Amino acid sequence: MVEVIHLSDTHFGPDRTHTIRGANACDRAVALVAAINALPFTPDFIVHTGDVTNDPDPEAYALAAEVLSELKAPVFFATGNHDEVAMMRASLAFGELDLLVPESEGSLCYRIGGAAGEKVEFFVMDGKVPPDEGPHGHLSDSQIEAVLGAITGTKPVAVFLHYPLTPIGSRWIDEHLLVRNGNEFHDALAAKAGAQLRGVFTGHLHRGLTLYRDGVLQCGVSSPACEFSVAPDDATCEFLPGGPLPFHHLTFTADSTQVKAYSLPFPKLA
Ligand SMILES: [Fe+2]
Repeated sequence: MVEVIHLSDTHFGPDRTHTIRGANACDRAVALVAAINALPFTPDFIVHTGDVTNDPDPEAYALAAEVLSELKAPVFFATGNHDEVAMMRASLAFGELDLLVPESEGSLCYRIGGAAGEKVEFFVMDGKVPPDEGPHGHLSDSQIEAVLGAITGTKPVAVFLHYPLTPIGSRWIDEHLLVRNGNEFHDALAAKAGAQLRGVFTGHLHRGLTLYRDGVLQCGVSSPACEFSVAPDDATCEFLPGGPLPFHHLTFTADSTQVKAYSLPFPKLA
């Protein structure tokens, strides 16, 4: 069994007073960390699927590192559209990992190592495109090739990345926030991993997501900083500050994948 905590989109600013649409990102992340540390078990690892910071600057990453270093398990990070790989790697403490593409390519694509990585093949991928092209994502051929090539077919497989892969039925999100080659990647992943594929776990939407493509789970966690509204005919989204603190508890067993979606009150956790 492998126990994982999945969180996303903390959007740290350069100091503790930074707010995003009226919400103090740091205070809310501190409360989230306290909630995770108060769980009645220690996860094998914690994965943050990107937008660690609101703007990629060294002060924001230093603050994120300070707050997230309180977590009592190895932490792994995926690149969000608000992140910058070199600063993430310089500032944030990652757990044991095996890079799948050279960092010189500017992407952060790796397999999670350690004891949990022996039981389940966990991959973290980087869908970031140049900021003036985003906020949609794209997965490079080199990452897809590397991940597919690393799948042995003998163990469960799970993939983490910032951007969802498949349209959810909301116009603004489907046009602007997905991996452009997401369905293509999903199909290749499903073909390679087969029945071993447990799911694809994402952030970016600032809303929870549960979607199945050909029977495979795509599961997204919301943002502790600020949620987005979503509706079928949205041409844009509203920001909803002041909501609860979301994180997911993922449990991978020999025959099941459990997602416990927590939504905790803020500021009662302080
Ligand atoms: Fe975000």
